[in-house]
Amino acid sequence: MKKASISILALSVAAAAAGLSVATAEMSAGNTPSITPKAMADALHLVMDSDRTVYTQKIVNRLVKKDKVITASEHFEDEQALVLPAQMFRFGSELVAQRAADKPDVNFTYSLQSLWPVNRQNAPKTEVEKTGLQFIADNKGENYYAEEELGGKRYFTAVYPDIGVAPVCVSCHNDHKDSPRRDFKIGDVMGGVVIRIPLGS
Ligand code: HEC
Repeated sequence: MKKASISILALSVAAAAAGLSVATAEMSAGNTPSITPKAMADALHLVMDSDRTVYTQKIVNRLVKKDKVITASEHFEDEQALVLPAQMFRFGSELVAQRAADKPDVNFTYSLQSLWPVNRQNAPKTEVEKTGLQFIADNKGENYYAEEELGGKRYFTAVYPDIGVAPVCVSCHNDHKDSPRRDFKIGDVMGGVVIRIPLGS
């Protein structure tokens, strides 16, 4: 519960920073506050990326790489190891999908993908995902935004760079037996976060 309330606080701070109309005065005046899909995606991403960076730097990198007291592994239960940062992210995304199922107003999905995936399930599937991941790899520091139609529905899709922020990101991917790429350096774009928001028909 503690984490959820921190995230909500962070989201409202992010929303305020993004210049959204969330002022209580405006709400009490009876106006419906509005938020663009881009501003919503940007705010969500800021929270996701900050949580991901904190977990990687303050937990995984510190305990695995610096203090060497525990490992991080996809078989974390059998090996009594830490959950990988990518698994932490996916477990959160799966729980969001499950909890949002009966909340029609909370309508978005997100995933961590890469053009060089350790897990082939994390390869891009739609044209927008492929173009977006290539764009963020070629244009460091920029995000990619597009609209796409899937199964007869229109979506706003945002792709944000996922950066190798800690030495452990780079070393684990470069050394992983299933990794198709082994020359990652710190600060490189290693993949991307895809956030998809349905648009009214
Ligand atoms: C100890 C190993 C390890 C560490 C540390 C690690 N990763 Fe990964 N990463 C993996 C594995 C294994 C997967 C595949 C997980 C899955 O989906 O089953 C993965 C998945 C990913 C993906 C999705 C695409 C893919 O390769 O499957 C991205 C992007 C990614 N990691 C980037 C990073 C970044 C950036 C960091 C640091 C913030 C990081 N990783 C830290 C092992 C690691």
